[in-house]
Amino acid sequence: MINSVLFVCLGNICRSPTAEAIFREKAPRRGLSVIADSAGTAGWHLGKAPYEPMQTTAAEFGYDLSPLRARQVAQKDFSNFDLIIAMDQQSLLDLKALTLRANTAHLRLMGAYISAGSPPDIPDPYYTRDFVGALKIIEQAIDNMLAAQWPK
Ligand code: 4NP
Repeated sequence: MINSVLFVCLGNICRSPTAEAIFREKAPRRGLSVIADSAGTAGWHLGKAPYEPMQTTAAEFGYDLSPLRARQVAQKDFSNFDLIIAMDQQSLLDLKALTLRANTAHLRLMGAYISAGSPPDIPDPYYTRDFVGALKIIEQAIDNMLAAQWPK
């Protein structure tokens, strides 16, 4: 049983905090009490709130990112969380490079919940500037993830 999920991207100010907030909104609606958190593989934005344009877009869709603060992935995350979701291939590779043999968390690509065959990367709106597009993809992935991991 998966009781905790960590969403991971590069900076922890766009994609993974959005995934965390959407998951926190949707999981209880399915009657789930699953712990959710997010982190970045890089530590550039430690302690910072999510990127302002991402916050604004998320708010338009009903998700509040304002309480979230960026942090970097830590070794203990690999034993504290049951499932770690990487937003793209590079994040997954970076996570695997950090993984020790004793780690218990399952590592998975977010894109696997969109297309199992060839999981797409979640496009990074920090570079694409398409905050709405990224949010909609993440929203769909979370819906699919909830149905796949916690079937009713
Ligand atoms: P994120 O996007 O990984 O979705 O949080 C980024 C945010 C900041 C940077 C890169 C990606 N940056 O280079 O500062």
